[in-house]
Amino acid sequence: MKTFRFAIAVYSLFFAVVAVYAQSPPPDTGLTANPVFEKNCAKCHGKTGEGRHFGGPPLVSEKTAAASTDDLRNIITNGKGRMPKYASKLTSEEIDTLVQQINALNKK
Ligand code: HEC
Repeated sequence: MKTFRFAIAVYSLFFAVVAVYAQSPPPDTGLTANPVFEKNCAKCHGKTGEGRHFGGPPLVSEKTAAASTDDLRNIITNGKGRMPKYASKLTSEEIDTLVQQINALNKK
């Protein structure tokens, strides 16, 4: 009977550990994991922000790294050249998140 209880305890511990791992995959909160980027931006700037598709420049570049947070937010909100404006398509929170994630990608 004691062995049986011990087995139950071991099994529940095992399942608890599995459950914890299943629920918390390593959090990838970067630009490439952002569904907003995937849906709106990846077609021009590439899935990883490497650029090239339909003439969108890379978002990981010296130029982007040199741009201020305000510049980046402004370009995404109001557009620039062939870059469409997202003022009416995304919320300002979504745009802020994109800006932060673009900045994070450019920090080496
Ligand atoms: C239709 C293609 C297209 C789409 C879609 C697009 N972009 Fe762009 N993006 C461009 C082009 C082209 C430029 C270059 C504009 C210029 O400098 O004339 C640009 C420039 C930028 C820049 C400035 C880069 C720099 O180094 O100055 C940022 C930041 C940017 N895009 C972010 C985004 C984000 C975020 C999204 C999605 C919400 C997005 N873009 C969607 C084409 C696109």
